Amino acid sequence: MREEERLVTSTTDIAETEAENILRPKSMDGYVGQNKVKDNLAVFIAAAKMRGDALDHVLLYGPAGLGKTTLAHIIAAELGTQIKITSGPAIERAGDLAAILTNLNENDVLFIDEIHRLNHNVEEILYPAMEDFTLDFIIGKGPSAKNVQLPLPKFTLVGATTRAGMLSSPLRDRFGVICRLETYSDAELTEIVERSAKKLNINIEHDAAQEIAKRSRGTPRIANRLLRRVRDYSIVKGHDTILRSDSDMCLKMLGIDALGLDATDINMLKAMADKFNGGPCGLETIAATINEDANTIEDVYEPYLLQIGFIARTPRGRILLKKGYEHIGLKMPAGKAEQISMFTSTAEEENAE
Ligand SMILES: Nc1ncnc2c1ncn2[C@@H]1O[C@H](COP(=O)(O)OP(=O)(O)OP(=O)(O)O)[C@@H](O)[C@H]1O
Ligand SMILES: [Mg+2]
Repeated sequence: MREEERLVTSTTDIAETEAENILRPKSMDGYVGQNKVKDNLAVFIAAAKMRGDALDHVLLYGPAGLGKTTLAHIIAAELGTQIKITSGPAIERAGDLAAILTNLNENDVLFIDEIHRLNHNVEEILYPAMEDFTLDFIIGKGPSAKNVQLPLPKFTLVGATTRAGMLSSPLRDRFGVICRLETYSDAELTEIVERSAKKLNINIEHDAAQEIAKRSRGTPRIANRLLRRVRDYSIVKGHDTILRSDSDMCLKMLGIDALGLDATDINMLKAMADKFNGGPCGLETIAATINEDANTIEDVYEPYLLQIGFIARTPRGRILLKKGYEHIGLKMPAGKAEQISMFTSTAEEENAE
């Protein structure tokens, strides 16, 4: 399937990034849900402002499209400071990071997206920078080599990652505030869809917004993406308000089912049932079977299937659960439940990760 036809993907192209920027809330008030994270940050932000000091370094982690980049911008806005944006893969050499750090102003926010992809040499520069606000480097080689330390302005590093587990522990330990973003409830997503519709200058029936929310896999990015498609459909139909029937028809046309699953999800569930007798089977094996990239499955498809209890992760691989079987119109084979219960205690530990 071509990338642009996909609605569930986590990646965004330039046109979509622009569309996302329009819909991005600019303040905590406009940022729907994530109440625990917001409350937590509000306290730290208020304290930092009262002290006139930089906020502690913040790590934001959670699946794609849940609002990490959005929140990083809001943190800077609430602090009333500048935000400088870069990403793990963009910083190739230690010198690149040194240049970024020396260009920061006092109390600025430095946002490093995909921070789990920083290479080791770069990370080494980051440790003293985060801890003591100094730039440590060595001049020269051999016996005449000299350690040099340069003071840096106090700054706040905001790191974002979809893979907290891939962060090295020395890096993770240097974040004072660690926030895990959760998937959103249907009610929260409905609110996001309604706010987005307002920003796009269109009316939407409450029912229609709810319908979009229900099929958005707990993810604002997908909700906004579906909203734009439904809006186009509604405009073509000549409606000045997005009707419930518009969202139904359009989502059906897009091949998104009542739970927000698309053809890839269904293929994956079917492959697990038919080819692997419900598992356990390895991620790579499933990926190869349905001709899909293993990382995409892990980042995009699997989190939601895990969340709704269709599959589980065990040390021996993925297993298909009863609800997963039922969704594709199959009954779980006899004896499978007992086999699964053997794995579930370990699966729960895994899923909690
Ligand atoms: N809490 C929220 N309230 C309203 N809109 C939100 C919220 N979180 C995210 N969005 C919207 O969802 C879209 C995606 O959010 P964002 O780019 O911040 O996700 P992300 O977590 O950084 O994703 P990625 O991991 O792919 O970088 C944005 O357009 C944003 O407007
Ligand atoms: Mg982002």
